[in-house]
Amino acid sequence: KKSIIDPMDLSVEEISDLLDLANDIMKDRTRYQDVAKHKILATLFFEPSTRTRLSFESAMLSLGGSVLGFPNANVSSATKGESVTDTIWTVSCYSDIIAMRHPKEGAPRVAMRRSKVPLINAGDGGHNHPTQTLTDLLTIQREKGRLNNLTVGFCGDLKFGRTVHSLLKALSRYEGVKFVFISPEELKLPEYLKEDLLDAKHLEYKEVRTMEEVMGELDILYMTRVQQERFFNEQDYLRLRDTYILDLNKLELAKKDLTIMHPLPRVNEISTEVDDDPRACYFKQVENGRYVRMALILTLLSLDHEVERL
Ligand code: CP
Repeated sequence: KKSIIDPMDLSVEEISDLLDLANDIMKDRTRYQDVAKHKILATLFFEPSTRTRLSFESAMLSLGGSVLGFPNANVSSATKGESVTDTIWTVSCYSDIIAMRHPKEGAPRVAMRRSKVPLINAGDGGHNHPTQTLTDLLTIQREKGRLNNLTVGFCGDLKFGRTVHSLLKALSRYEGVKFVFISPEELKLPEYLKEDLLDAKHLEYKEVRTMEEVMGELDILYMTRVQQERFFNEQDYLRLRDTYILDLNKLELAKKDLTIMHPLPRVNEISTEVDDDPRACYFKQVENGRYVRMALILTLLSLDHEVERL
């Protein structure tokens, strides 16, 4: 069984195959409606979610499979003190594949070792969110027609933002991608990612404090929410939360074909007046998330060649 805990668990070739499959499903998803019949997806979410959980469930139901899970972690035996590993072993007796979100970094990797079925990390603390990364890569590929030769700006909470960390790792493997990190000093990208990834691979990047000074250079602008749930101090959160707000004035400085992305949920960091701008792609990301998760479920269950491609 193969599990997906980190975006680097997938090779560039495997990512390409997954994106091809997601694109094929998008052409006419009814062709895939019975492929996972009799298969069960378990969703184990120890943190809140709207998109990831519902898109996983929608994906499995769209493939003809079934879904089980707790409405929230408070009604599971975890509240009686059961360990994550015992919980996962139990759930893997009742399902064919598991999607798991947990506030502790590394929890899905520990859980994976006790699971009898493939386990997908649906977000672990400020660490990784590999299926959001697949969603983001599909969106970039569909919008730009490529995953290489891009200048990608990440803006906001680069310290705690797991979607940033995961997408950065994935994009670091494509030729000619340059990175621009826009954040306050307190929310800079963690040093380990700079040293072990960007510096180690001699990748081109810079860190700046304002959006305005780099807006015109960017092909992709990836906005993020300041992650309130990871702060120890409420005052720090309140001081930093509105550092960056993308509005139509700032967009006047941007390229005409900029792609604006956000994993969502947003709080205040993209003004709603931007939603109607043709460059706004964050609602397309939401839609793409369902198809990429269908592709991932099919691949991990070895059902990816059951339907002839269009
Ligand atoms: N993008 C994302 O992970 O959204 P949710 O927290 O709503 O799942």
